[in-house]
Amino acid sequence: MSQGVYPVPNHWAKEALVDAAQYREMYERSIADPERFWADQAQRLDWMWPFSQVKATSFSAEDFGISWFADGTLNLSANCLDRHLAERGDAIAILWEPDDPSEPERRISYRELHEAVCRFANLLKARGVKRGDRVTLYLPMVPEAAVAMLACARIGAIHSIVFAGFSPEALAGRIEDCASRIVVTADEGLRGGKKVPLKANVDAALAHCPDVDTVIVLRRTGAAVPMVEGRDIDWAMATEAQPADCAPEEMGAEDPLFILYTSGSTGKPKGVLHTTGGYSLWAAMTHEYVFDYRPGQIYWCAADIGWVTGHSYVVYGPLMNGATTVMFEGVPNFPDASRFWQVVDKFGVEIFYGAPTALRALMREGDEWVRKTSRKSLRLLGSVGEPINPEAWEWYHHVVGEGRCPIVDTWWQTETGGAMISPLPGATALKPGSATLPMFGVKPELVDGEGRLIEGPGEGCLVLADSWPGQMRSVWGDHDRFFQTYFTTFAGRYFTGDGCRRDEDGYYWITGRIDDVINVSGHRMGTAEIEGALVAHPQVAEAAVVGMPHEVKGQGIYAYVTTNADVEPDDALRAELIRWVRNEIGPIASPDVVQFAPGLPKTRSGKIMRRILRKIAENDISNLGDTSTLADPSVVDNLLANRPWLE
Ligand code: WT7
Repeated sequence: MSQGVYPVPNHWAKEALVDAAQYREMYERSIADPERFWADQAQRLDWMWPFSQVKATSFSAEDFGISWFADGTLNLSANCLDRHLAERGDAIAILWEPDDPSEPERRISYRELHEAVCRFANLLKARGVKRGDRVTLYLPMVPEAAVAMLACARIGAIHSIVFAGFSPEALAGRIEDCASRIVVTADEGLRGGKKVPLKANVDAALAHCPDVDTVIVLRRTGAAVPMVEGRDIDWAMATEAQPADCAPEEMGAEDPLFILYTSGSTGKPKGVLHTTGGYSLWAAMTHEYVFDYRPGQIYWCAADIGWVTGHSYVVYGPLMNGATTVMFEGVPNFPDASRFWQVVDKFGVEIFYGAPTALRALMREGDEWVRKTSRKSLRLLGSVGEPINPEAWEWYHHVVGEGRCPIVDTWWQTETGGAMISPLPGATALKPGSATLPMFGVKPELVDGEGRLIEGPGEGCLVLADSWPGQMRSVWGDHDRFFQTYFTTFAGRYFTGDGCRRDEDGYYWITGRIDDVINVSGHRMGTAEIEGALVAHPQVAEAAVVGMPHEVKGQGIYAYVTTNADVEPDDALRAELIRWVRNEIGPIASPDVVQFAPGLPKTRSGKIMRRILRKIAENDISNLGDTSTLADPSVVDNLLANRPWLE
């Protein structure tokens, strides 16, 4: 091994819920007898009606289907709230830290959260929301976001959270796709001292969504926002009038729980659908084992609820486990680069879970910002969203964690519901940059381009051989797309879209996406989506987008643009196109590089050869591969000569 191995510290091995021997024993049992294993694990949830069936799953075309605990019933909001009231009703459920450190924090007990959820659930019902209806949430990182999620779960409505950084156009597309008639938002959001005009964005989006009849508006900043009579209602005023109790709906385990849109390699974002029983079990179980979570510990996942990490590890997983979950409205570098670690000290955070992109950004600011804080409460650190480079891993371990805290590098996806390949802190020796070993019930396999299984050490495409309870169940409104996207590339297996290496110890090293998805700051962007936004510009004839290495973001966005013949491309147009994409999708989709290209490298059949575009964007031009199949090989010389960052 070129990198070091960090063994499990002794006290972790002794005190953790799962040690190395237990991990092996449980893992083997989960694979040998999944029915028994998952029937036992599912006892961690409160069921309203016990299930008699456990696993009914097939990834094959003939009898494709995924169902877990099908005849059991439960309610996720009851599992997050009601079950804790007797024993820890006064314990803090949510510890909220505002964007501006001079504003007071909020501490919300399980009892208070329960009441707020019931009132909001009753408000939704009063506005006609029923089981199975879709509710779009476009909210900042405030406790009311969790209230709205839990209220939907309580009445069996399906929430669809749209990240508050997305544009009105992106929001409208998601509202329309799932035909949601109600949107929950705030007057404005606050991030890094800047205001985000959420209500104005909703108003702009709704110009395209005539079927929305209700907008519930939370007052966050108190800004004066226009309210549409009959459609827009004030959160505080409307919930005050509602009763403080609302019985949880009895939901089937396979009833839809939420939709979360994510980018794929083709077409518009797809609505990943998760269902009630399996998702809840996966979020609760992985949160407990991966973070070795015990009730009473202060836990902080620094993700936004607009992403799946926020769903599973800010709200649902922790609350099912009776945690005190920190919710942070701000950003890592505001007011300064100590912010994360000041919040750790302020609340005595024991477990911190964040993204490599934030760590790399903070690492660049220098160690003093970290060192001037105490961080003595920290016991465990986590990483998620993208591969963590060994340099950032070591910095996280030695500087942030002072060599004391294991790091759990969790590989998973929106589609998987929760962590799939991850160390357990009391069980797994760590290798910087490796997500290590599979979670219970997860069967990772590597296949080569021809679909042949790779045994032992090697590198290939990561697939999963069998179902797990937290697996997505469908693409909203397009079940065939679900099957086509995930189960046809390698028949009978779930296709992750990630490349991966397995070493001689059986450890997994995710190498990144191998499809046309790029991972920008841990956020997934489809290249096709950005291309779609670019070609919608009146002066653009054609566009091709690829990823490029980026020191902080992991991957940046490199766009090749062919303008219409009568357009003379210049820097003004370049700036204009970047602004255009921000408006069409959101700031996270802004291209880092726009290269004007009179032609794109295409095969004779007209297919763009992205391999060449990727190599140029990566500045790996010594080996462009075979260009002889191009319709016009001179296109490549032009691209090489006109790289804008060479200017
Ligand atoms: C893609 C999924 C995991 C929830 C947040 C992102 C990449 C995620 C890791 C990791 C290497 C990772 C993969 C994956 N990814 N975690 N620990 N190591 N890569 O969810 O937006 O659905 O993105 O993120 O490429 O496929 P997502």
